[in-house]
Amino acid sequence: MDRNGEVSIALGLRSAEAASEWRSQLQQALPQARIVDDAPDAPAADYAVLWRPQAGFFSRQPRLSAVFAAGAGVDWLLADTSLPAGLPVFRIEDGGMAEQMAAYCVHEVLRRHYRVDRYEAQQREAQWREWPYLSPAGCTVGVFGLGKMGEPIARALASLGFSVRGYARSARALEGVECFDESHGLERFLSGCQMLVLAAPLTPATRDRFDATRLACLPRGAWLINVARGELVREEALLAALDAGHLAGASLDVFRTEPLPPDHRLWRHPSVRITPHVAAITVIAESARQVATRVLQLRAGQTPSGLVDRGRAY
Ligand code: GLV
Repeated sequence: MDRNGEVSIALGLRSAEAASEWRSQLQQALPQARIVDDAPDAPAADYAVLWRPQAGFFSRQPRLSAVFAAGAGVDWLLADTSLPAGLPVFRIEDGGMAEQMAAYCVHEVLRRHYRVDRYEAQQREAQWREWPYLSPAGCTVGVFGLGKMGEPIARALASLGFSVRGYARSARALEGVECFDESHGLERFLSGCQMLVLAAPLTPATRDRFDATRLACLPRGAWLINVARGELVREEALLAALDAGHLAGASLDVFRTEPLPPDHRLWRHPSVRITPHVAAITVIAESARQVATRVLQLRAGQTPSGLVDRGRAY
């Protein structure tokens, strides 16, 4: 902050379109702010809004007092070895993303439960065949991760009558959701999930958590939905489980390598549905208002919510 009380915010965003939108939304939400682009001669800013910035960002911005990730996940930022130790990191909390993610998961669950794929295949063959009704209450959907994204997903599915169980690191109580935590064991949680939604952050504790052993804990014919991060799942184990028919299919929005390489086997797997990391897109207007509020709180000496615990990695 300079002597006139002006606050400056640097933008370290991958896409020029996103930077231009952030600039205009931040300027609206915080008219007194000076927004600076990432450039070698950029003035030193107080804060930064970041999404996978260009290498060297932190050496070009040496006087930051806090940074805001322009999304919910901060794994990419915490993995950046140039991120100064002790620099407070905030993440967007919901910011319009939870609703999108819940809608995405509801869509995938309904498709699977009400056999839309099967009816689409029948339509291609001009085949009129009715399948018996299946009650949603008879279908257990597990949600791994009950945070800002997972909880609304679990609630949305429960409101549609599915039997929902959730898994969180520590004990949670959520109406209409059977809650599991580490004390119950992940394997026990998984063994009852006919569908499994991954909605947890990528941390050292969740990386590779869904390997061959964990996937084998799911009942035969289960369906996996990953809207978290690709690194939660061992892709070769997933492909093996799909090939063996242990998993009936998967709806994948995130991958270990993004964009998913054109020759990746997942693209063409008949039991896989793919979207290009769009289950929840940052709503910049709402997120900019959240950042503006937090900047004002920081300037007033308060601690805004959304502060990342670097030890836990989210
Ligand atoms: C998207 O993946 C996000 O972390 O917001």
